[in-house]
This record gives sequence, C-alpha cells and structure tokens, in this order.
Amino acid sequence: MDASATAPATPFSTLIRTASHAAHTEAETSSFMGDMLGGRLGVDAFARYTEQLWFVYRALEEGADRLADDPVAGPFVRRELFRAPALERDLAHLLGPGWRDRVSALPATAAYAARVEECARTWPAGYVAHHYTRYLGDLSGGQVIRDRAERAWGFARKGDGVRFYVFEGIGNPAAFKRDYRDLLDRVNADDLERQRIVDECKRAFAHNTAVFRELAGEFPLSA
Ligand code: HEM
Repeated sequence: MDASATAPATPFSTLIRTASHAAHTEAETSSFMGDMLGGRLGVDAFARYTEQLWFVYRALEEGADRLADDPVAGPFVRRELFRAPALERDLAHLLGPGWRDRVSALPATAAYAARVEECARTWPAGYVAHHYTRYLGDLSGGQVIRDRAERAWGFARKGDGVRFYVFEGIGNPAAFKRDYRDLLDRVNADDLERQRIVDECKRAFAHNTAVFRELAGEFPLSA
C-alpha cells in the first residue's frame, strides 16, 4: 500500500519514530508543558500532571500483568519499567498521605486510560503502541522533564516528587532503548498490523496532547 510495504529494509522502530515525529513535536511544545517546564506554573500544576500519569500507568501496568505471556505484547512487558509504584511515592510526597482520596482523572485522562485498557483487553498490538509511546518517551525526554522539575520546585535530585522519572532497575538506558528498538523491529505482526500500530501510536500522542490541553485549562497563566 505504501513504501513501507515494499521496503522491508526500513526497521519498524525507525518507521514508528518517523511517523510519530510531528505528533511528538506537538506534545513537546504544548503550552502546558512549556509553561510548566519554563517554571511559570506552581508545583500544584506539576502535582496535577503527576496525578494524570498515575491513572494512565495504572491502566498500562494492570494490562501488562494480563499480557505477560502474549506472543505480541508479552516480550515488551518488563517489570523494571513499571512506574505506578514510583508515581505513588511521588503523589504521597506531593499531596500528602491521603492522596488517594484527592486525585481525580481529567476527562481526557479517563479517555486515555480507557483506551489503554481496551487495547490491553482486546488488541495486544495496540497495547504495544501505548507501551512504546509512554515508556520510550519516559526513558528519553523524561530526563529533561526531571531536571527542569528539580530546579523549578526544589525536589531532591532523583528523589521524592520525581521518582517517576528515575528507572532504578535500568542501569544503562541507552542500551535498554537499543534493545527495545530491536524488540520493535521483531514485533510479531505483519505489515498491515504494523501500520495499525503506527496509527495507534499517533492516537496515543493525541491522547497526551488532549490531557495537556485540559491541564492548560485548569492552570491558565495569569498575564
Ligand atoms: C517537554 C516534553 C518532552 C520533551 C522535552 C521530550 C524530549 C524527547 C527527547 C530528547 C527524546 C529523545 C530522542 C532521541 O532519542 O533521539 C524523546 C523521545 C521520545 N519521546 Fe519525548 N519529549 C517530551 C514529551 C513527550 C511526550 C508527551 C511523549 C508521549 C507521551 C513523548 C514520547 C517520546 C517517545 C515515544 C520517544 C522515543 C522516540 C524513539 O526513539 O523512538 N515525549 N523525547
């Protein structure tokens, strides 16, 4: 159908990265991200963002448990990636011990988590798209976010508040990402299914952008 079908030489990891490049730029340059990382918003905005991540990772990681033996998604399930426990420590630090009673999913977050759950239940290849979009991003740009957050709000380096960004179980992130791309290249899916994974990846980025938009609505910058 397209060049990728006749050019098996293009590794799938390159295809998915290239195809989602524009969506990445849109997410990266969203006004909420810019305002938050530019230090123009308070720590309450960072806490609200962290809350949203918790709902998404809960869906991803509850799904992972179910998919550990799946031929398509199973190879991607790695416990050292799991972020929910780190997010829970961050939220306890940011919101206090009663944090569970005080967190709520924005509508865009609820829709995002519901889509992840749906993929985990019914379409493992779609789950791979969500897995890639979050975890490979966290291992990459997440480190930029951590650095800015530590400076803006004075969190201890790699400490409570930013543990989400610290992958204790991954000693060499660059090597991990190389292995991950290798897994993507070998994903157990034909060309058509791979194209569907790319489309789901774009959808995953769109979910992230929608969450940022709603966060921007909650934390408008006062002029
Ligand atoms: C201010 C926010 C962000 C910054 C500064 C940022 C920055 C980066 C950087 C520096 C990389 C590394 C590129 C490389 O390895 O050469 C990266 C990769 C990535 N980012 Fe982001 N990013 C941000 C937001 C996001 C968001 C919101 C998502 C999606 C949820 C995302 C998903 C990804 C993915 C999937 C990759 C891996 C691309 C690949 O190598 O296949 N990023 N990001």
